[in-house]
Amino acid sequence: MELYAWREKLAPYELAVEELVIKFRRMMTDYRAASRYSPIEEVTGRVKTISSILDKANRKRVELEEIEERIDDIAGIRIICQFEEDIMTVVGIIRQMRDLTVVSERDYISRPKESGYRSYHVNVLYDVQTIYGCRRIKAEIQIRTLAMNFWAVIEHSLQYKYNGDIPKTVRDRLTASAQAVQRLDNEMSSIREEVMDSQNKFRKDAVNVADILNNLQNLYHIADQDAMLNIQREFYDIYKSGDKEKLREFGRRLDELAADKKAQKLA
Ligand code: GTP
Ligand code: MG
Repeated sequence: MELYAWREKLAPYELAVEELVIKFRRMMTDYRAASRYSPIEEVTGRVKTISSILDKANRKRVELEEIEERIDDIAGIRIICQFEEDIMTVVGIIRQMRDLTVVSERDYISRPKESGYRSYHVNVLYDVQTIYGCRRIKAEIQIRTLAMNFWAVIEHSLQYKYNGDIPKTVRDRLTASAQAVQRLDNEMSSIREEVMDSQNKFRKDAVNVADILNNLQNLYHIADQDAMLNIQREFYDIYKSGDKEKLREFGRRLDELAADKKAQKLA
């Protein structure tokens, strides 16, 4: 890698990270918009800083010319899932994507690292279009649960603090925490169906309230003030009662009212 032009060299990696983050975040919002459970909870991405690229190259005895070839996490994407089961769903999605090529996969969930680290890694090639033409970029996608991420972030900051040489007492604690994290993931998995149901229900209710509020706002321009105050009061009373069925019924009535008013206005 030409260090004298490192900003230009890293630009296509930035583009790749931006594009991939947008694509995975979009999947998340699409699932939710369709009132479906999203296997993706959160997506982040980063380009390695030039100093950590050099650090890693130095540690792995990589020559300057080999950096782009041998360091495969210059572009990094992290996909966080709620449950362990979601991880393979996400891996399945990635394997099917036509705009990237999977080059390797590492499963540190079936076989955690000695440190206790758990995650699923997928290394991919992804094309970006630049003003200098097409660039094929290597990217590393790490897929892990919220709990696995919690552990990895903390362990990483301790490695940083102790310069990669974590004292044994701390190491032992980390090992014990890694086991606790695994138990936590297992516990959560055992109530996964229930959590998914309640989240879907919550989103559906939220959509219902949002629809009602949209209708209220639209009616405000065409109905008279007194009628609007009454409707608003009725809505809030039902809302406070917590009766979901009544709220749905109110929503349907409001839909009809909005349609009527619109028809009257057009007539
Ligand atoms: P690298 O030389 O780091 O690329 O190792 P590798 O080529 O064997 O790849 P691997 O898939 O093992 O690890 C790549 C990335 O996974 C690292 O850059 C970290 O982000 C993460 N990782 C791997 N092991 C650990 C670990 O023990 N703790 C934490 N916190 N992260 C890890
Ligand atoms: Mg690697």
